[in-house]
Amino acid sequence: MKAIIDCDPGHDDAVAIILAARHFELLGVTTVGGNAPLWRVTENALKVLELIGRPDIPVAAGAAGPLLGDLPRAGERVHGTTGLDGAELPRPSRAVIPRNGVEFLVETVMANPGTAVIATGPLTNIALAMRMEPRFARSMARLSIMGGSTTWGNVTPAAEFNAWADPEAARIVFASGAKLTMCGLDLTRQAAVDAAAIGRFRAAGTRTAGVVADLLEYYRSAAERLTGAPAVPLHDPCAVAALSAPELFEFAFARVEVETRGDLTRGMTVMDRRTLTEGSRRGRRTAGWRRRWMQRGCSTSSRRR
Ligand code: BDR
Ligand code: CA
Repeated sequence: MKAIIDCDPGHDDAVAIILAARHFELLGVTTVGGNAPLWRVTENALKVLELIGRPDIPVAAGAAGPLLGDLPRAGERVHGTTGLDGAELPRPSRAVIPRNGVEFLVETVMANPGTAVIATGPLTNIALAMRMEPRFARSMARLSIMGGSTTWGNVTPAAEFNAWADPEAARIVFASGAKLTMCGLDLTRQAAVDAAAIGRFRAAGTRTAGVVADLLEYYRSAAERLTGAPAVPLHDPCAVAALSAPELFEFAFARVEVETRGDLTRGMTVMDRRTLTEGSRRGRRTAGWRRRWMQRGCSTSSRRR
């Protein structure tokens, strides 16, 4: 499958890029300001591709900040000032392509039917692409997002970081009619790595595995300082795996909208549980999914028209 990853690396974004390059024909990486300023995350994307020997994959820089207001600095607490603190990555051998990331997304998706987009940062670029080309939303074979939560948040009690960093963009994207798979915190918290798992990466013995282990150890300790939990969720790789290994997931269909105005709830992804259960034909068909989802605490929610 052809894919583009739109990201803000970010430790877990770095792993997502590596996974996406392994499992898809990766047509490009677009970057968005999020975990760190745009120039940092763009440099990080170039470094990660250099590390895995894929400097052939184009990188295009997109939006520096959200549709409204300034880029929040909350990402620094877990990713450090560079966005990828904690590991030595190779210097990039090339620069970004002379194309804006939003234009690159639109042109590449429109020119390559069947392309999936994986979004692991704030949804600014994706919303701008939808604004630029009205056919963009429905032209993506699938849009797999790491963002939001059907339970509780991480950056605020109600909101997950990517949705909170640009709620207006998230609102546009969730209402767009795209074939959207949401990998929210309710899902990604089940994909946490602890010191033992990181040790298994390191034991693989390759340079890439060593760098990934260093990155994950930094990320794990930063998260532990903040939350007290010894294991850190590998959020972003879930949005890749939802496409490359869907058999690992249980999917449920539900309507999800994004709160942009609440004092306490700005950036919250509100899942309408009634759409999982109410008497419509689709509701009856999804009742089994809902049961499994409730029993196992597992959900990847997807909006379907
Ligand atoms: C998301 O926020 C970022 O810090 C991570 O890279 C991930 O995309 C998790 O809330
Ligand atoms: Ca991210």
